[in-house]
Amino acid sequence: MKILITGGAGFIGSHVVRLFVNKYPDYTIYNLDKLTYAGNLENLRDIENKPNYKFVKGDIVDAGFINELFAKEQFNAVIHLAAESHVDRSITNPLEFVYTNVIGTVNLLNAAKTLFKQEGSSFKRFYHVSTDEVYGSLGDEGMFTETTAYDPHSPYSASKASSDHFVRAYHDTYKLPCVISNCSNNYGPYHFPEKLIPLCINNIKHNRSLPIYGKGENVRDWLFVEDHARAIDVIFHKAKEGSTYNIGGHNEWKNIDVIRLLCRIMDKKLNREPGCNEKLITFVTDRAGHDLRYAIDSTKLQNELGWKPSLQFEEGLEKTVDWYLANETWLENVTSGSYAHYYEDQYARR
Ligand code: NAD
Ligand code: TYD
Repeated sequence: MKILITGGAGFIGSHVVRLFVNKYPDYTIYNLDKLTYAGNLENLRDIENKPNYKFVKGDIVDAGFINELFAKEQFNAVIHLAAESHVDRSITNPLEFVYTNVIGTVNLLNAAKTLFKQEGSSFKRFYHVSTDEVYGSLGDEGMFTETTAYDPHSPYSASKASSDHFVRAYHDTYKLPCVISNCSNNYGPYHFPEKLIPLCINNIKHNRSLPIYGKGENVRDWLFVEDHARAIDVIFHKAKEGSTYNIGGHNEWKNIDVIRLLCRIMDKKLNREPGCNEKLITFVTDRAGHDLRYAIDSTKLQNELGWKPSLQFEEGLEKTVDWYLANETWLENVTSGSYAHYYEDQYARR
């Protein structure tokens, strides 16, 4: 099998590429990534020389390039993770999210459809990796199931919802063998330090303030990234065509409680006085349109395909802190100037 994984140099994509390259030596894994500020080949140093791994630099928004690549390589399957993924960036530049998340996805669907419609086609699967944020925001009660109506609020979640609709449309209209999964918030190694947990790990390390939006009452359902990668493996191999699975850890935390726990873990790891890091917590202006609560019901995935999360949050968070403290160079490289300038260049060109 020749599998194209898009966005494989990003946070979740790098864990999926690593899992597939190591677990399936008979598959050839192509990692297609534009290497935006969020994409980093350092994330894949341990597997980059494996004979079943190939890297392709490219932009999914470029239809001509995508069509040529599919015609040349005749992939048997796609696992699509490439996306603009940060809600705050989507608020300042929504159009970039429309380009990559919507148009990029439709370009991939078109190229996959062309392979699928060829005589004697061996194209088997288009797997679209999506988010629970498409379902909108919950009150104090309830959970998102696979049948919850879409109700996105941020430009990021609206672009992901749109891409999910296109994937379903290609399944229903052209019979393209698609599956979709919608996952809750991930955390773990290689997470770009603009997102809450790695941002706060980095700030605690440098004794900088920890910006908590609003009152820190917003609730997220956190899943260790390697558990997400395992779920993707199971769904890729076992899910029925046209199906959707929710992925989540049954692990809801208010933001303020996550950061307090992180502060306590890092007091110990950095040999600081108990309570010292909590003093860095600073409440700042809330995010516009900030969804109050996400909670995923992953019963369908657990019952039908036998997946379940492997780690407790406290254990996973400690593991994550250990990784960031042991990988200082990675953290310094991704927070250095070249990454910060990437977006200015993008805006100037469009
Ligand atoms: P990320 O921002 O860390 O990585 C995205 C990757 O896509 C980067 O390597 C980037 O270079 C690449 N990319 C961006 N634009 C591209 C383009 N135009 N062409 C080719 N490559 C491009 O994101 P992530 O957190 O790893 O998320 C991966 C996927 O999982 C996304 O589709 C996201 O919506 C989804 N998801 C994320 C989470 C989460 O908590 N992070 C939860 C559920 C679902
Ligand atoms: P984030 O990691 O950006 O993920 P998402 O918006 O996709 O859920 O944010 C997680 C939660 O943390 C969310 O409720 C927003 C909040 N947050 C802060 O309070 N401060 C921050 O600096 C960031 C980046 C996020």
